Amino acid sequence: MIEKLKNIVDKAKADIGKAHTREELLQVQQRYLGRKGELPILLHKLSSLPERERPEAGQKANEAKQTLLRAIEEQHALVGEKNEKPAEEIDVTWPGDEMPRGHLHPITQFLRRVKGIFYSMGFEILDGPEVELQKYNFDLLNIPKDHPARDVWDTFFVRGSKEDLVLRTHTSPVQVRAMEKRKPPVRIIVPGRVFRHEATDASHEAEFYQCEGLVVDKGIRVTDLIGTLKMFLQETFEKKVRIRVRPEFYPFVEPGIDIDMSCLLCGGKGCPACKQSGWMEMVGSGMVHPKVLKNMGVDPQVYSGFAFGLGIDRLMMLYYGVDDVRLSYSGDLRFLEQF
Ligand code: DAH
Repeated sequence: MIEKLKNIVDKAKADIGKAHTREELLQVQQRYLGRKGELPILLHKLSSLPERERPEAGQKANEAKQTLLRAIEEQHALVGEKNEKPAEEIDVTWPGDEMPRGHLHPITQFLRRVKGIFYSMGFEILDGPEVELQKYNFDLLNIPKDHPARDVWDTFFVRGSKEDLVLRTHTSPVQVRAMEKRKPPVRIIVPGRVFRHEATDASHEAEFYQCEGLVVDKGIRVTDLIGTLKMFLQETFEKKVRIRVRPEFYPFVEPGIDIDMSCLLCGGKGCPACKQSGWMEMVGSGMVHPKVLKNMGVDPQVYSGFAFGLGIDRLMMLYYGVDDVRLSYSGDLRFLEQF
């Protein structure tokens, strides 16, 4: 028995040494150690040995098995290194799988455009808090407490705040904030998010974007305001536009001016988009009220200025041809993936 074992081990070792691929090695392993391999068949005969020979023979058989397994393992490492292709071949010239990528929201894309245009006109771009003191959102803008003008801005009040906090209803408060750290001449814009407590429909959202503008210097006139905004609109829509101005009341400007633009769709003939008027309302603006200039620490006898507030969402909708503001904030990928 022991003799036979030794023969098997010698034969197997020789065969293992001759195996040059993992495939061949596997075959050798099957031949000697597999279920019907030479070693198991021999082991099977253990039971026919006289009882006292069995323990020794069993131990030897086990040793033989271990020896062979080790030999196979060593050879395995050897043939793997020398002769076999690596399990996975990498072709570094093959183009990679394209990863799905996100992109900027249409409002963000459009805002960047707006900022770029004003930047090229020499404006500084500022930021301000979205949770604002009433002092800045209203009082310093000449919108006193209990004055009916306050009702124009449906306001979210921050409950339980020690200071009188609101979610800013417009970007105008940053006009005064900016002037606390600056002296004229200034040319600034403030793009940002604003909040109104109102029911939403295709053209109203409770949360939207405005871009405030403020220019203060000696000798600033209404024509500077009109020229600046006309230029901005033409740059934005990349075409010549006609504009018209209408008087409008805003407490922080005098005179207050609304600027309309000839309808982009019909060019002024009248269509559903402009409610047959040929005009689209684009900008609220005006000459900064002397009281507000004073609140900014600016002497209205020496300086004058103009201010404006752009509705970014409306402009964006016109620019891309979107007919419902709510789509912007819906998170609907079918909408967003079009930009
Ligand atoms: N803050 C105004 C609003 O939200 C828009 C506005 C109108 C801003 C006239 C201005 C301005 O700076 O001069 O309705």
